[in-house]
Amino acid sequence: MRPSADEPNEPNAPTPGDDPRLPMRGVAQPTRAEALALPGLSVSRHPVVVSKLTALRDETTPPAQFYALVRELGALLAYEATADLATEPWRIQTPLEPMEGQRLVGGVGIAPILRAGLGMAEGFRQALPDAQVWHLGLRRDERTLRPVHYYNQLARAANLQVCYVVDPMLATGGSAIDALDLLSAQGVRQVRYLALIAAPYGLVALRRAHPATPIYVAAVDDHLDERGYICPGLGDAGDRQFNTL
Ligand code: PRP
Ligand code: URA
Repeated sequence: MRPSADEPNEPNAPTPGDDPRLPMRGVAQPTRAEALALPGLSVSRHPVVVSKLTALRDETTPPAQFYALVRELGALLAYEATADLATEPWRIQTPLEPMEGQRLVGGVGIAPILRAGLGMAEGFRQALPDAQVWHLGLRRDERTLRPVHYYNQLARAANLQVCYVVDPMLATGGSAIDALDLLSAQGVRQVRYLALIAAPYGLVALRRAHPATPIYVAAVDDHLDERGYICPGLGDAGDRQFNTL
């Protein structure tokens, strides 16, 4: 999301005269193969995920369909990223007889990074409608590529088994790292990160900053361009979802 010209100065915006050094300028980017070898990284191979992601990337996909696809991909990744959640025995009565079933241990949190994470969170809630949703307002300053905080609505972490940070794009990794730092400061210990498309640069940065956080993505792309966009990518995920291009 690009800041408007009359936007007030924010705490981590550069002052005039600064020469913000964009993270990928003059810095060799890690290769895709290096990123794929990172520990704790899961890349979906599901054919439905791969085909929906291709439709999402297509520049002719209109905003309404784009949003629907982000939601669907969020739901599909949610199934993959929740496959190992802990359950406990739970006794119920069916219409015929008592039985011992299973229920999830504790609650689940979803923390969408605004705005683009909203569609993924919506899909995630199809799988887990009772999840707590914690909104994190971060937007990337397009000049410095550093994340700017503008809102957060974090709840109590009490009795949460795990919290999933969701955002379609992991580019430089700045937004993801800040989001995980915020949750850590809030005392949330079990966190997982989900994105649709990740750049090697952002994956390496995120792995370095949060070595133990499991990362789930639908694809690892090739590189970041000079503006910090993921290539081949899909363009601006927030603008394409919300028709603000
Ligand atoms: C995009 C994206 C991530 C961030 C990724 O959001 O959804 O949050 O950029 O970039 P990074 O890895 O370099 O931090 P953006 O700031 O454009 O905001 P928006 O979702 O409101 O469009
Ligand atoms: N944010 C986006 O929406 N797309 C990118 O390629 C990078 C950051």
